[in-house]
Amino acid sequence: MTAMHDISEIADWLHSHAIHHESSVHDTLPDPVFRVGGEQAVSFSTNNYLALANHPRLVEAAKAGLERYGVGNCESRLLGGDLPVYRELERRLGALKHKSDAVLFVTGYMTNIGVLSTLVKAGLLARLHGFRPSKRRKYAYFTDEYNHISIREGILMSGADKHTYRHADMTHLESLLKAAGGASPIIVSDGVFSMEGTIAPLPELTALAEKYGAMLYIDDAHATGVLGAHGGGTSEHFGCYSETIMQMGTLSKALGAIGGFVALEREMADVLRLTSSAYGFTCPPPPDQANALLAALDLLEQEPERRARLWDNQRYFVERMRPLGYTLTSTSTPIVPVLIGDAERCQRFARALRAEGVHVDAIQFPAVPPGQARLRFMLNAGHTRAQIDHVVGVMARLGATL
Ligand SMILES: Cc1ncc(COP(=O)(O)O)c(C=O)c1O
Repeated sequence: MTAMHDISEIADWLHSHAIHHESSVHDTLPDPVFRVGGEQAVSFSTNNYLALANHPRLVEAAKAGLERYGVGNCESRLLGGDLPVYRELERRLGALKHKSDAVLFVTGYMTNIGVLSTLVKAGLLARLHGFRPSKRRKYAYFTDEYNHISIREGILMSGADKHTYRHADMTHLESLLKAAGGASPIIVSDGVFSMEGTIAPLPELTALAEKYGAMLYIDDAHATGVLGAHGGGTSEHFGCYSETIMQMGTLSKALGAIGGFVALEREMADVLRLTSSAYGFTCPPPPDQANALLAALDLLEQEPERRARLWDNQRYFVERMRPLGYTLTSTSTPIVPVLIGDAERCQRFARALRAEGVHVDAIQFPAVPPGQARLRFMLNAGHTRAQIDHVVGVMARLGATL
């Protein structure tokens, strides 16, 4: 049996279970309005939460970056690829997260892979260069069952022990921490869970981290720019700051461009830069993107009304959806998933919505367990009341027919 045979067997199984992705090619990207096949449509599933991705100031900043630096830097920052614009971006991201530094990676995905695979191995790498630790430690990860796949893969790559706790269940987490013995714990949680729309109980996580001497790693991909009065994320939302927290974020959602980062104290940042291959053995986001991101951070400060509009739209949508009788897995963030269950039925909903000029992602296995397919509605600062009324009206009709 060859690997090729195994893959085609999997392909047959996926097809026979109607597990496939129907994506259409769009003519423009959603802000949240977009064009597809010459028609106009509205996205209720874009991560472009603040409608910044095509904001004229970001476009102008990117153009200025292109003219100054060209389209790519073609080298790792540890070699000849470093530029002042990256340093400035890291300084600003560190400040947004109330940390003394931040380390930039090419995407959010690579940030999780790069940081989580390295944290437990940094000492080992330093030993190759003659470092002798005062104490040899073993580490263990404690991870929420619904954490993003890049977290799961980063932990797997680290080779450390992994203990998975039930979603946001602090009693379960504490029982695992107690049972873990001598290993140094690292707790990892999404700040906002991408498929559920729930917010992690950060104050309780922080209390447990402090009680058990753990490091706490928070993936704020869907919280940065969205939660907190200044868009600082989960910590700002709860007013919960601690030295134990490392703050990961992505630059490809509310901030509208591409890249990922982890905000932390300078000493740890220095170690990560030298030991994480996802930082040192690959390129950062292109310099025009870094330039555009500085403009996005300016707008985050200067136009708080964008975040206010996003949350007004979230509340308006939830109030109108509630009476329709669907199961909403969470109503506390701009991600409002509508549980459908059966993957094929969920696809039928998505197709029917598309026919009405609305794009909503049908989320199914492997992103969620089989039988828990859902329509993932994501609210946006750019949605109008008429657009929200339209999509709720369509959902009211579809509920009775599909
Ligand atoms: C929770 C979470 N973490 C990390 C990522 C990866 O971010 P990026 O798209 O910047 O690679 C995502 C993206 O979907 C995410 O939802």
